[in-house]
Amino acid sequence: MADTSFSKVTIPSLRAKKAAGEKIAALTAYDYPVARILDEAGIDVILVGDSLGMVVLGYENTIPVTMDEMIHHTKPVARAAKRALVVGDMPYFSFHVSERETVRNASRFLKEAGARAVKVEGASNKRLRLIEALVEAEIPVMGHVGLTPQSIHHLGQFKVRGGAAKDAAKLVRDALTLEKAGVFAVVLECIPQEVARIITGKLSVPTIGIGAGPWCDGQILVFHDMAGYEVGYLPKFVKKYADLQRILGGAVNAYVREVRAGTFPADEHSYHMKPEAARELKKLGRIS
Ligand code: KIV
Repeated sequence: MADTSFSKVTIPSLRAKKAAGEKIAALTAYDYPVARILDEAGIDVILVGDSLGMVVLGYENTIPVTMDEMIHHTKPVARAAKRALVVGDMPYFSFHVSERETVRNASRFLKEAGARAVKVEGASNKRLRLIEALVEAEIPVMGHVGLTPQSIHHLGQFKVRGGAAKDAAKLVRDALTLEKAGVFAVVLECIPQEVARIITGKLSVPTIGIGAGPWCDGQILVFHDMAGYEVGYLPKFVKKYADLQRILGGAVNAYVREVRAGTFPADEHSYHMKPEAARELKKLGRIS
C-alpha cells in the first residue's frame, strides 16, 4: 500500500479515514511554532479554536473573541501547516446577524487567513440555513454540538450535555440535520460516550470528539491543555501529555538567576572585535 503519511489532508481523505476505520487526530493551535510542531508530528486537523480567547488572550470565556483576532491567529497557523487541514473557528457574533455577514466572515478565513474550512457551533434551524449558505458558497463547514462554549450565558455553566435520554435523542437529531445541511465533520463536545457512539454510527461524515469518549472517528484537545501549557482548571477529559508550564517556568527562573548573578551571557554568547580593530579602538580612546 502507498505511504500516504505526507499527502495533504483533505475533506475527502477525512471521509476515507472514517470509511477505513482509521482514527483522525486533531488539536488546536494559535501560532506558527506550535502549528509547525503539530503538522510535523502528523496531526490531521488543526483547529484555530476560539478557545484562543481563554488560553492565549486571557479572556474569561470565548465570547469577546473577534473576527480580526481569529484571522490574525489563523494566518501563521495556515503558513505553518503543510499537510494538516486548517479549520478556522467562527467566533461569537460572526454568524448571528445575517446570512450575508456570515458568508463574508467565513470567506475571510479562506481568502485572507489561508484556512481550508470553518467551524460553526450549534444546530438550530437558523444555524442550519446559515451552514447551507456557507456550503453553497464553497466554504467547507465543521459542525459542533453538545457543549457549545459560545452558549455559556444560556447554559449557565460548562457541563456534560445529553445525559438524559430526551437530550441525548435531540443531540442525535441535531448531528443528523447538520450532516444533511452539508457539514464535512461534526465536533461532539462533552457528551456521554454512549451518545457519541450512536451518533458516530449514524453519520457518514466523521465525528471528532472532545470529552465524548473513544467511539468517535477522531479526537481533538486544546493544545495548551494536553501540553500542560496552562495554569487553570483542566476538565476530566483532558490527558496531560507534557508539563510545559513547569519546564518553561524552570527555564525562566534559571535565566533570572543567571542574569542577576552575572553568569549570563558567558563568553560563548558574546561577540569579539578583531584584534587589530580592538588595538585601533584603544588608540582612538587615548586621543579622545
Ligand atoms: O475553540 C475550540 O478550541 C473548540 C474545540 C475545543 C473543539 O471549539
